[in-house]
Amino acid sequence: MTPVSTVPEELRSPAERLFGDRLALVERFTGMLAAEGPERGLIGPREVDRLWERHVLNCALLADAIDEVSAAGRPTATLADVGSGAGLPGVVIAIARPQLQVTLIETMQRRTTWLDEVNTELGLGMEVVRARAEELHKDRSFDLVTARAVAALDKLAKWTLPLVADGGTLLAMKGGSAGEEIEKAAPVLKRLGGTDARIGRYGDGEVEVPTTVVHVLRTPQATRKGGRRG
Ligand SMILES: C[S@@+](CC[C@H](N)C(=O)[O-])C[C@H]1O[C@@H](n2cnc3c(N)ncnc32)[C@H](O)[C@@H]1O
Repeated sequence: MTPVSTVPEELRSPAERLFGDRLALVERFTGMLAAEGPERGLIGPREVDRLWERHVLNCALLADAIDEVSAAGRPTATLADVGSGAGLPGVVIAIARPQLQVTLIETMQRRTTWLDEVNTELGLGMEVVRARAEELHKDRSFDLVTARAVAALDKLAKWTLPLVADGGTLLAMKGGSAGEEIEKAAPVLKRLGGTDARIGRYGDGEVEVPTTVVHVLRTPQATRKGGRRG
């Protein structure tokens, strides 16, 4: 039996809103992470006490950003999470939005072993790929590409935008530096067909620190001007 970490009472309401009848599943994932994460080098020991608010719900709020993309009529069938590490946000999103086809792209074997175990244990049906994102540019593309705590936006855009399908969206989870990072990344975004960069905030009034997400659209190939791919 997998260990279970029950959602703290003060966070039950947003957790129920975001996970619905899959709340028990995310409680099992959080339990696994609390039990094995520090020992396996997936999370720092001090993170165990703040796993729910700082990590699990912080990532689950990305589902609101995905719903926004979908409501705007853009594609959201396939999602790749680059640099998933312990499974953040990829596993959390696979639990919260089971209709998505989720691929986790992670370069460290120790971490893909963990992600494979979680996938099997919780029956999530994800694809786990051990690779650097850049190695997949020629072969793979996704409606949505997500990343959290992987790199500054200019570098992250080089790694991830070539994986975003034409008309798809990059969703980069960021902190207070999001605006500056967008400015600095502007030339790279332009070169790679990234447009309409904007910041979305999710969880206001529900959690202490809302989730900040940078949205970047990838323009369809036909309207991209002079940008070389990759
Ligand atoms: C700081 S951790 C963040 C993990 C997780 N996203 C989180 O928020 O807890 C960064 C992760 O990205 C992975 N990574 C770094 N560069 C990568 C790349 N180019 N392609 C795929 N994974 C990468 C690292 O191995 C590491 O697991």
